[in-house]
Amino acid sequence: MERVERISEVREIVAGQKKKGLRIALIPTMGYLHQGHLSLVKQAKQEGTFVVMSIFVNPLQFGPNEDLSRYPRDLEHDAKLAREAGVDLIFHPSVEEMYPQKNRTIVEVSELGNALCGLSRPGHFNGVTTVVSKLFHIVQPDRAYFGQKDYQQYLIVRQMVRDLNFPIEVIAVPIVREEDGLALSSRNVFLTAEHRREALVLSKSLAEAETLIRQGERNVTTIEEKIREKITEESSGKIDYVEVRSAENLTKPEVIDDSVVIALAVKFGTTRLIDNRVVEVK
Ligand code: PAJ
Repeated sequence: MERVERISEVREIVAGQKKKGLRIALIPTMGYLHQGHLSLVKQAKQEGTFVVMSIFVNPLQFGPNEDLSRYPRDLEHDAKLAREAGVDLIFHPSVEEMYPQKNRTIVEVSELGNALCGLSRPGHFNGVTTVVSKLFHIVQPDRAYFGQKDYQQYLIVRQMVRDLNFPIEVIAVPIVREEDGLALSSRNVFLTAEHRREALVLSKSLAEAETLIRQGERNVTTIEEKIREKITEESSGKIDYVEVRSAENLTKPEVIDDSVVIALAVKFGTTRLIDNRVVEVK
């Protein structure tokens, strides 16, 4: 596995691999890798591609009061995990390499970013789409892998790729969870033992909501209220949002008559966790 920091080096290595006839996979990450990230690698490896992983904590997607400076980092450990998982190349640029002068171009996907995490994190998705576009132009992959853990992010990137004609296939990978149900996240390290226990209410309430829908409940508000009640009763978590939305375009359905994503964001102490569940309804 190679590890490079320069855009010119990535371009050269990737061009060499393409010349050999290999297809290129890109897995964008902010590092502090866990099994969620590694499941993206596993999927890319199965498809026989040359796997490039970017590790870059992107300042553009953090708000002024967010956790940019304390975002967890451990490049040496990441490199070890990435190598074991079969990553071929790590691209780990500095902030100066990615943003050498003031960035004046922003990529914005309208509408999809105006709900859920977009409301509580203004500018966040513009930061994501801008850096992901840059990574797409730098690496020029055939495929890019995104986790459904960040479902809204996946939909926004997919839309951007369609709208701007990136010749890239965007692939969604299912959420990886701890055995007890907590969705893996680099931010879980910030949870106290108490909050870690309480945070189980997220995956549990989502599972219960799915059961309700399967049993025939079609009212959006009823589902959202049930989840809110459970979270409030069983934990000290502060709800940012609980929303039932179209799984295709995040619009709010009148009734549940098509596939939906039930998405939520809840703060435990200073740590904001997100989770979601897609429920297919025919
Ligand atoms: P990061 O949070 O590091 O996540 C990198 C990728 O791993 C994302 O596609 C995310 O959805 C996926 N991922 C994280 N936890 C997962 C889990 N438990 N199961 C499955 N996939 C999981 O998302 C970002 O970084 C950034 O916004 C980025 C796209 C790199 C742009 O800066």
